[in-house]
Amino acid sequence: MTGLFPHLSGKSITLAVTGGIAAYKACELVRLLVKSGASVRVCMTQAATRFVGPLTFEALSGRSVVTEAFEGAMQHLALTRNCDLLIVAPATANILAKAANGIADDLVSSVIAASAAPVAFCPAMNTLMWSRSATQRNVRQLATDGFEVWGPASGSLACGVEGAGRMIEPVEIAARASRLVSPHPLAGRRVVVTAGPTYEAIDPVRGITNRSSGLQGYAVAQAAFEAGANVTLITGPTALAVPFGVESQHVLSAVEMRDAVIAALPEADIFISVAAVADWRSAEPAANKIKKRDGVLPALQLVENPDILAEAVARFPGLYCAGFAAETENVVKNAKAKLTGKAVHLIVGNDAARTIGSDMNEAYLVSPRGVEATGALTKQALADRIIAFIANDLSKGGLSREPQHIG
Ligand code: C5P
Repeated sequence: MTGLFPHLSGKSITLAVTGGIAAYKACELVRLLVKSGASVRVCMTQAATRFVGPLTFEALSGRSVVTEAFEGAMQHLALTRNCDLLIVAPATANILAKAANGIADDLVSSVIAASAAPVAFCPAMNTLMWSRSATQRNVRQLATDGFEVWGPASGSLACGVEGAGRMIEPVEIAARASRLVSPHPLAGRRVVVTAGPTYEAIDPVRGITNRSSGLQGYAVAQAAFEAGANVTLITGPTALAVPFGVESQHVLSAVEMRDAVIAALPEADIFISVAAVADWRSAEPAANKIKKRDGVLPALQLVENPDILAEAVARFPGLYCAGFAAETENVVKNAKAKLTGKAVHLIVGNDAARTIGSDMNEAYLVSPRGVEATGALTKQALADRIIAFIANDLSKGGLSREPQHIG
């Protein structure tokens, strides 16, 4: 398992914690970054150590924590060496003011001043402190100077008031960090992704659906966003949180999904159809719950659902189209047939029995260029592989959907 944000794997991140109550949320941030495979080094101001003990960060990061109390010679330089990203979270009004003015009078402000890596501030403070013209001036100055300022969010603050000043959630900080350190081969591209199952009502309480969790489609949407794309996720019912930065529309039935996709596609460059769209729906869903009667089975008349991917291909000739083929046998043969049958650029063939209910997947990327076996991967790693494949295809101008090119 590579973790939640595979692009953070192997990255060196320095986290500077300054003195605010949101310091407790920085613990969760360290956990997420470490789980994603990043190496995290924490430094803290004296004030921050009053909120959370350095030992907590040491345990979570697995590395010694540098605090101002134990500052050694050149510690600020050691903390910036080989660093891919410096995150200041929470960032108080005080540290924003110092950084905006180039002040380096303690450990954390010196680390910021000495950082060659990108620096991201995650402000957290009382609403009044945030709205002060001095703070706003400092934040504008930091943005002008090329620093990242992430947040704050609005909501209820620890001081009891409602308003702007909440530190953004750790998962959002990790997502932003991941996008920042990722290459952006899809910059400027607009991507529409479908995910999850559809639900076709039989009556108000019963329906036809399937066991798709949505994990693979959500991972593709996240990977496309991290690759720099503008992403719309059109999703059937799932229990998953929409990835940060991804626009989403929730639908229930195949017909609703079709309408949402067709409405979104005129703006899109790439369509990735990951959803497990139900093949059939009830011809006439009952308005009221169908009553159970002893020995009498209700006759269910089915009609075929629209093939969303096929319609997308037919209506939008310039669109790059990728689909999935979840099969229980002859994965490659069936995926090849689907590539020609649906005239798409890419079919990701996988074994339905193995992917359903698992975090892992094992796929074949079947395209006019040939067949690539991915081997066993996490769904997130497979999503990255698919996005890299599409970006590479587009960079080669690989837009041919001619059946005779199929290998
Ligand atoms: O034909 P099959 O369902 O195996 O095709 C799989 C591909 O077609 C997937 O990418 C799926 O999202 C898409 N599809 C669709 N509309 C349907 C059925 C499948 O877009 N009604």
